[in-house]
Amino acid sequence: MKLDNKIALVTGASRGIGKAIAKILCENGAFVYLAARDAEKLSVTAKEINPSGTKTKVIPTNITSNTSVGELFSKIKAEEKSLDIVVNAAGIAPAVAAEDLTYQDWKNVLNTNLNSVFSICQSALEGMKAKGGGKIINIASILGSMASPGLTAYCTSKSGVIMLSKQLAVEWAHYNVNVNAIAPGYISTDMTKSLRNDNTLNQKLLARAPLCRWGKPEDVAKVALFLASDDSDYVTGAVIPVDGGMSASLM
Ligand SMILES: NC(=O)c1ccc[n+]([C@@H]2O[C@H](COP(=O)([O-])OP(=O)(O)OC[C@H]3O[C@@H](n4cnc5c(N)ncnc54)[C@H](OP(=O)(O)O)[C@@H]3O)[C@@H](O)[C@H]2O)c1
Repeated sequence: MKLDNKIALVTGASRGIGKAIAKILCENGAFVYLAARDAEKLSVTAKEINPSGTKTKVIPTNITSNTSVGELFSKIKAEEKSLDIVVNAAGIAPAVAAEDLTYQDWKNVLNTNLNSVFSICQSALEGMKAKGGGKIINIASILGSMASPGLTAYCTSKSGVIMLSKQLAVEWAHYNVNVNAIAPGYISTDMTKSLRNDNTLNQKLLARAPLCRWGKPEDVAKVALFLASDDSDYVTGAVIPVDGGMSASLM
């Protein structure tokens, strides 16, 4: 299989896009560490992805805490494993008008969506260097290059993820570490439930996507598999939209 003998870490693996990515990596032969805060939900997801439990391990982690991220990497190291693949999929998207956004809320979004990506990429580098290379996949958003009312902190964080991915791709190419970003459009997950439940907004969004449907987590996962595999060995610093054509069209 494409990812036989590969060791992967997926953050945000308990549900939505992270879960779909963890599943496809596992189905293609990788051993996958699943990280998110809710330990119980993670365990249920791990069982669903790999009922035998031989290809997954749950490590409950709060990616906004340096201590928790440190413990995550210590646990992986203690198992004498180092990562070939890292997928940063954890994220939050609270909607608050910029004038009402508290500094604490701003920092929470930036810490979750951007600062954690930096610390996890940096923590994974040592092992990847020792192994002679690796693949890092950061889940950005089309809202990293397009503004959306009420999502100032989110859009800013995703814009940062896009530039961070390009920057690390350039700096770490000589270590044979490929760093790419995926920019999903509107994907059907818990994060976007309230948009789908609002009929007017839902129709508006569907009208904006040339492929005229919501994306599925699996649509994103298939691209992540490509970026995690040898098929993408000459791809680094790329930002791949998975958005039904939304970012290519104005109307
Ligand atoms: N859905 C979309 O339309 C869409 C579009 C573009 C980009 N994205 C991006 O894709 C990624 C996944 O989104 P999704 O739609 O799958 O969201 P989701 O269903 O809400 O899942 C978010 C995941 O992130 C984890 N998480 C949140 N805060 C965390 C923290 N502090 N520490 C560790 N884990 C944390 C959650 O688990 P716990 O709560 O248990 O920690 C959960 O596993 C996000 O980065 C999001 O911004 C989504």
